[in-house]
Amino acid sequence: MPETQHTTGYSSKSAAPVDLNAYWLPFSGNRQFKQKPRIIVAAESCHYIDAVGRRVFDAMSGLWCCGFGHNRPEIAAAVQRQLLTLDYAPAFQFAHPQAFELASRLTGMTPTGLDHVFFTNSGSETVETALKMAKAYWRLKGQPQKQRLIGRAKGYHGANFGGTSVGGIEPNRAPYGELTAADHLPHTLLTENAFSRGLPERGAELADALETLVAQHGAEHIAAVIVEPFSGSAGVIVPPRGYLARLRTICDAHDILLIFDEVITGFGRTGHVFGANAFGVTPDILCIAKALTNGTVPMGAVVAATPIYDTFMGVDGPEYMVEFPHGYTYSGHPVACAAALAALDIFEREGLAARAAALAPYFENALHGLRGTKHITDIRNYGLAGALQIDCIPGEPVRRPFEIALKCWEKGLYVRWAGDTVQLGPPLISEKHQLDDAFSILSEVIASVA
Ligand SMILES: Cc1ncc(COP(=O)(O)O)c(C=O)c1O
Repeated sequence: MPETQHTTGYSSKSAAPVDLNAYWLPFSGNRQFKQKPRIIVAAESCHYIDAVGRRVFDAMSGLWCCGFGHNRPEIAAAVQRQLLTLDYAPAFQFAHPQAFELASRLTGMTPTGLDHVFFTNSGSETVETALKMAKAYWRLKGQPQKQRLIGRAKGYHGANFGGTSVGGIEPNRAPYGELTAADHLPHTLLTENAFSRGLPERGAELADALETLVAQHGAEHIAAVIVEPFSGSAGVIVPPRGYLARLRTICDAHDILLIFDEVITGFGRTGHVFGANAFGVTPDILCIAKALTNGTVPMGAVVAATPIYDTFMGVDGPEYMVEFPHGYTYSGHPVACAAALAALDIFEREGLAARAAALAPYFENALHGLRGTKHITDIRNYGLAGALQIDCIPGEPVRRPFEIALKCWEKGLYVRWAGDTVQLGPPLISEKHQLDDAFSILSEVIASVA
């Protein structure tokens, strides 16, 4: 292998050159990146500042996680206070006050019946936890054969074994073969729904594919179905009106647990606290992460319905025995709890779910205002999430979105490119004039790419 050593050219306190190949970026085109690195050195409210001093509007809230704005002093102060009071406490067999405080705070926000919080450190760990919880639950209920997991095509549930398996974005799965057995419902992206504003009207019956899987495997073999209320990573695929309620009904009819992965849709993105509130459907298990700490400290959580918790707590054997042999060294880390409590203070004090709901129609109009711009084959939105589907260059479906996003970056706008989509998830604190500027850059850039 040739030994190449690139340097960033950016100032560093040490005199040693920085080896760009020392850092292997996740979910990135490393080879392209290292030719022309995009280095972010600071952030401020709704903006990033890069290494060449460019001020960039963060129209993706980081990676859907910093919706309450960057560098909030309240969160920084809470983290510092916590670090100087209790930097770490063992997560197993001991606890600290902030974990209880945060869990109680969260159960006050989640839909009724979702009352038991199990902490993790990321969306991926949250999903793994939820899947293991579902499988263990049925074993404890005396139905050990109820083990199959069902996801949905185009779903994203993180990068770990279970999440990759129930996930339905093919390029994320293909390199690994089968990690864990999983079935998939069809996705809900219908051409007849193209350019729907908010909820598409057609396709609720796609939920009936679950009946087909039940007929195939027998409900007695199916543990759980996991879906995102709307698929974020695949490009804001919004459920057809009535689809999630139908899924809930079928799960109820066959005693199948319904898991909502709200890692993106939680904490205001939909204009409600959770997607469950927005769509009026309550799952048995809710997965959260990202905006829980406003993206500041890694943290996630599974929120389980009471019958699930009670089943674990009702297990036979002495009370000192572990009921759920699962967890992480950093589950409920005191610093993450402090960051989350401070973030939730901001979320509630500033009424950010309501603010997102109020801004959503403006965002929707601006986004759909791009209709007719060349290359755009579909526009989808819900709350403060939106995606543009971009006509593919034959054999290179990702190239055009990538070129659009890079040009946007150069002009001071950060959007995400993924597959054949360009995605937007602006901060919930965005101002209308900031959205105007963002859409004007986006429209100019899309019109300019070949
Ligand atoms: C719906 C969903 N679930 C899980 C994850 C994984 O979260 P993390 O990257 O924090 O592991 C993501 C990340 O984008 C997500 O969008």
